[in-house]
Amino acid sequence: MYIGVDYYPEQWPKERWNTDLELMQQLGINVIRIGEFAWGLIEPEEGTFDFSLFDEALDLMYEHGFDVVLGTPTATPPAWLIEKYPDVLPVDKYGRKIGFGARRHYTVNSEVYQCLSKKIVQKMGEHYGHHPAVIGWQTDNEYGHEQSDRSYGEYDKQAFHTWLQKKYGTLDELNERWGTIFWSQTYTKWCQIPVPTVVYQEHNPSLLLDFDRFCADAYTRYNKLQVDTLRESISDRQFITHNFVYTGLAIDQLDMAKDLDFISFDNYPVWGGLAEPITPAAIARQHDLCRGTKDGKNYWVMEELSGAQGWSQIGYLPRPGHLKLWTYQAISRGAEAIVYFRWRAARYGTEQFCHGILDHDGKPGRKYAEVKDVIASLAPFADKWITSKVQADVAFYHDPENDWAWQIQPQSDQFNYINECLRFYAPAHDLNVQTDMIRGHEDFSTYKVIIVPIYFLTKKHVNDRLKDYVKRGGTVIFTYRTGVKNEDNVVTDLTLPGDVADMAGISIRDYESLREQKRSSIRGISAPLLTHTSPVHVWCDYIEADSAEVLAVYEDEWFSDKAAITKNSYGNGHVYYIGCGVEHDFLKRLYIDIFNNTGIAVHETPSNIEVIRRETSSHSYLTVLNHGVNQGYDVELPDQGQPWKDIETGKIYDRNVHVPRLGCLVCVRDK
Ligand code: GLA
Repeated sequence: MYIGVDYYPEQWPKERWNTDLELMQQLGINVIRIGEFAWGLIEPEEGTFDFSLFDEALDLMYEHGFDVVLGTPTATPPAWLIEKYPDVLPVDKYGRKIGFGARRHYTVNSEVYQCLSKKIVQKMGEHYGHHPAVIGWQTDNEYGHEQSDRSYGEYDKQAFHTWLQKKYGTLDELNERWGTIFWSQTYTKWCQIPVPTVVYQEHNPSLLLDFDRFCADAYTRYNKLQVDTLRESISDRQFITHNFVYTGLAIDQLDMAKDLDFISFDNYPVWGGLAEPITPAAIARQHDLCRGTKDGKNYWVMEELSGAQGWSQIGYLPRPGHLKLWTYQAISRGAEAIVYFRWRAARYGTEQFCHGILDHDGKPGRKYAEVKDVIASLAPFADKWITSKVQADVAFYHDPENDWAWQIQPQSDQFNYINECLRFYAPAHDLNVQTDMIRGHEDFSTYKVIIVPIYFLTKKHVNDRLKDYVKRGGTVIFTYRTGVKNEDNVVTDLTLPGDVADMAGISIRDYESLREQKRSSIRGISAPLLTHTSPVHVWCDYIEADSAEVLAVYEDEWFSDKAAITKNSYGNGHVYYIGCGVEHDFLKRLYIDIFNNTGIAVHETPSNIEVIRRETSSHSYLTVLNHGVNQGYDVELPDQGQPWKDIETGKIYDRNVHVPRLGCLVCVRDK
């Protein structure tokens, strides 16, 4: 298994390199990522390429037995480039040019930038494409991150027009599908169509959604330019990947991944001014998204947090044990390589407080010892562990376009896409039920339940596949605001929930956005929710049950005759509709019932405890993680009847195991 560090030799005196590499050897790592921000060094002026520093560094790394991942440095166009070609700079939605001085200051729609990027990538590929130490490449760095996913300049506008012409063919088609008759926005020339810079009110939602699609496509094309350029010169044994983030950017990771050998992810459970790490479920969901980005293929964590991170604001300091815990969580959910960010904290520049394994003094300390312990702990079994597969009975639908449609019209100030996805994901996580993230093209038949949360922007082909899946005996869980929009981000003219109303067996004519601190409440009227109540947040669909059974109703006297949660039989399967932002425990109660009815093993543990299984044909691997910083837990092991062996200590556990705070263990047993 690859375990490594992100290293920046260009930021340290050459005399220090040997010391660093020897400390890395003693640490036990076997891979180093370098170069992703070094454009200015490699091409100090246009057309002049100087690889001397990286030649020296790579040869030294090779001598020390390390494999190397090289970054293409296009996330940091140098000063000479911006001076000579200022129009490559991106433009924000206020029409302001984003200046030089940080990173990601380019628009992918600048043909000049595409050419200059191709040139340096080509040169690097030709120079290092057969270097014995180089095992692979990372294109650019975190596409679209830090608000760089959308640019609104002249190049972007021209490229947007070309994209629209390709999609719609004629202006009639576009005017028709966008409904530009509204407010006299009918376009008679393509060049009239704006990129959505600020207006007094809000832009047409169809234009906004297409603009996000265009931005994502533009990045996919830009990445493909780099991939194709590298493939022309690098050896077949070198892979190409990209380090994604999953924060609702106008980036389509799944689409871009088609051109990559595998995907990578940057895992920061706490960053910047956050006072506490994000929840275990929130971290897990991101790993599930990574696994779902290339149809279940394992991925790399190209940046795994090793110390507190931040620019002008620094947040929570990960506690002793967090590093191992988050590393084991990542591997147990599909990561097959872990590269820690970063080897040593930079002494200058924006990221002085993005701490690494070594701090500014360059002396090994607590974190160095922790990484060493992780590597030593993993060594005996990791290579086998990473060949095992996560087998999920539950799928969770995620479509970035749905996310963008919600960002365009959140409707409630309580609404946040990731938080609302977590509302419907976390109870399954709490019950330690494995979940795959799906986009809608996958084979549904392997799943017993498909959760389709906040399915605001619907797709006909997905609807049809869900209907077919339920008719064959599957179970689908819809939630509030389902079926409102078609793929053009136009509101359906069917009674809600629109195209899926038949399968849900309900009609929705009244609904309400809950604002600020406003809450509503619901009451269960049949098992498993009978007598239970829950405050509800964000949104209320006041449901009329047609053929569906009512499981819960609103307590609001105006709508007490309306359903809040329903269950419908459809073909051989069932469709649930959760019409409001219910609270965790209430939802968990419902999920337990649904999972029991569909034959999915539920394993309830304290919410800080996470249990993940991976399977090979001969072995089962069980990871038990305690995300709690305050206390240990006695955890009942799932699926008893055959003991589990602690893979590190060899201890055998029949029923329970004590997991100390921030503790993690991996157990194995034969099949
Ligand atoms: C990101 C980037 C890195 C660095 C770290 C800081 O993930 O890829 O270059 O900025 O965050 O935490």
